[in-house]
Amino acid sequence: MNPLNHVAIIMDGNGRWGLKNYNSRKRGHSEGLKTVEKIIKGSIKNKINYLTLFAFSTENWKRPKSEINYLFHLLESFLKNKIDELKKNNIKLKILGEKKFPKKIINLLKKSEFITKNNSQLQINLALNYGSKQEIISAIKKLNKKKLNITEENISNFLYTKYIPDPEILIRTGNTKRLSNFLLWQISYTEIFFSKKLWPDFNEKDFEKIIKQFKKIKRNFGKI
Ligand code: FPP
Repeated sequence: MNPLNHVAIIMDGNGRWGLKNYNSRKRGHSEGLKTVEKIIKGSIKNKINYLTLFAFSTENWKRPKSEINYLFHLLESFLKNKIDELKKNNIKLKILGEKKFPKKIINLLKKSEFITKNNSQLQINLALNYGSKQEIISAIKKLNKKKLNITEENISNFLYTKYIPDPEILIRTGNTKRLSNFLLWQISYTEIFFSKKLWPDFNEKDFEKIIKQFKKIKRNFGKI
């Protein structure tokens, strides 16, 4: 059976779910947050060490301002209301991406990372203002500046995911099969699962089904 350490998720389909059920994309995002909580529980239950969630991409800035504001409002209330619970459950929070947000959000993100920095049961990596191409370019620029060689190891060490092992599983919900500029470097050998369900409908059972399927896969890593 394959060992499982890290699951990454593209949580797609909130907007469609909200429109279909409540004629409101925002409602889809708030329901999506409930799924986030279910999957955190599922990750602990399955002894997963790293859970990476794509919460806001560099491309998401193109959305209407009111939707962007709502997403940050959800993030803010999630961090304010749940930080004690994260601490109690030994969960570490890490932000992946450029911290270019309003000051109060930056402070809250930094505070949440600081408060949970010594926790060790589960690390949640929240990809926020994250774009994979931007991440790789910035790593290469840093290597150039330090006059370091362009090697696989050096690039990995200058990505936001330094110290984080590559995911074994990538899940994308929402019935579309694309990677949307997410972890392009880190998923070279990741097993990818696409779920037809919209993110608010995705649940712990769906998560466990994918884990079971993954455990049975013969992973070759280029060998035979
Ligand atoms: C993609 O669905 C989802 C997002 C861009 C945001 C994800 C946010 C959450 C799950 C809630 C907030 C989470 C945290 C951790 C605070 P979409 O809007 O692109 O859906 P669509 O494809 O149906 O339009």
